[in-house]
Amino acid sequence: MTVCQTMEGADHGANLHPALFSPVRIGTLDLPNRVVMAPLTRARAGTDQVPTTMMAHYYAQRADCGLIISEATAVDRLGMGWYGAPGLWDEAMVAGWRVVTDAVHSAGGRIFAQLWHMGRLVLPEYLDGELPIGPSPIAGEGETMAPPEPGYGGGFLPMKPYVVPREMNQADIDRVIASYSAAARNAVAAGFDGVEIHGANGYIIDQFLQSKTNRRSDGYGGSVAHRTRLLREIVEAVATQIDRGRIGLRISPTSERKGMGDEDPGLLAEAIGRIASDFDIAYVHLIEPIASGFMERPEYPVMARLRGAYAGAVIQNGSFDATMADAFIAGGQADAVSFGRPYIANPDLVRRMRQGLPLASANFDFAYVGGERGYTDYPLAD
Ligand SMILES: Cc1cc2nc3c(=O)[nH]c(=O)nc-3n(C[C@H](O)[C@H](O)[C@H](O)COP(=O)(O)O)c2cc1C
Repeated sequence: MTVCQTMEGADHGANLHPALFSPVRIGTLDLPNRVVMAPLTRARAGTDQVPTTMMAHYYAQRADCGLIISEATAVDRLGMGWYGAPGLWDEAMVAGWRVVTDAVHSAGGRIFAQLWHMGRLVLPEYLDGELPIGPSPIAGEGETMAPPEPGYGGGFLPMKPYVVPREMNQADIDRVIASYSAAARNAVAAGFDGVEIHGANGYIIDQFLQSKTNRRSDGYGGSVAHRTRLLREIVEAVATQIDRGRIGLRISPTSERKGMGDEDPGLLAEAIGRIASDFDIAYVHLIEPIASGFMERPEYPVMARLRGAYAGAVIQNGSFDATMADAFIAGGQADAVSFGRPYIANPDLVRRMRQGLPLASANFDFAYVGGERGYTDYPLAD
């Protein structure tokens, strides 16, 4: 697909969208503007999950936004099922990320690490043939990229269907919580300004949250209080490692991608909001698209239910352009807005939106594979 929009009033040098470009304090961090770079998996880490210098260059190119959220970063080997994705569970990964955070800070930016565990969506090929773990023995819907055969020289990866995971026992749950906690500690050591707990897009936390994928009959399944328990315990564990004002949480309670679904997303959003409120975290990052594209636009949005339970900052995401983002912020429906696909081909998105310059189209052939091409080589606007 392509992203090609022309912002209204191509008045170069103008300062459009005053709400979007106003400063804001989120948690304990001051942002110079309310443009957030959404987390984007780009698969340019080494095979050892260590970030590369190419990644440092890519993030530094985009450092003039209010806040960068890093691509999803695995907290544990068992939660890592994406070829070329980075991790944050050992010293080499911490050192690799330090190069990235230094580059972003030198360019004047701020960056949070998105902490990720894929749960049932990890293929056995990434686990030496072992089954992945999940709340219940229900497979994800669809296919994902398997790791390449030896001798891989680049290009598209083979696709394989998701498998039925092994139902998690208490030791598995404890390990996931401990992994999030350790990764938060590592994020601080790596120089990140904060962490975003990935509770969205059908990964392990979301698998526990949503009723379609959580069929447990113990204290982690059934009622909404039980289904949100893993999230609560992860937030609690992460808060022992890092200032609460530097913790964000990403959610997508209305998403049905990869076989997700919930019987009452509004109720779920409210329960999540209460957890965010109880721990006084910096923000909730809600994927609730205003138009279908990456994800379907929900029939029944849950933003109001979330807001009713949580008075902290909300970052909205999903098919926004600068005009809509500005309107949402001016109208009090968001404190900031994140942009995903537009950031692929527009390293200078902030300037383009502020000045009404046209946006470049991304080549999605290079979204998840490749080197510098289709990654760091998108030109700045004239
Ligand atoms: C190439 C690509 C990679 C993505 N990787 C992540 C990711 O690592 N973590 C995440 O939470 N969302 C990820 N997303 C979702 C985006 O953060 C965002 O929610 C989505 O693109 C919708 O926002 P947009 O309409 O501004 O693009 C990804 C999306 C794309 C297109």
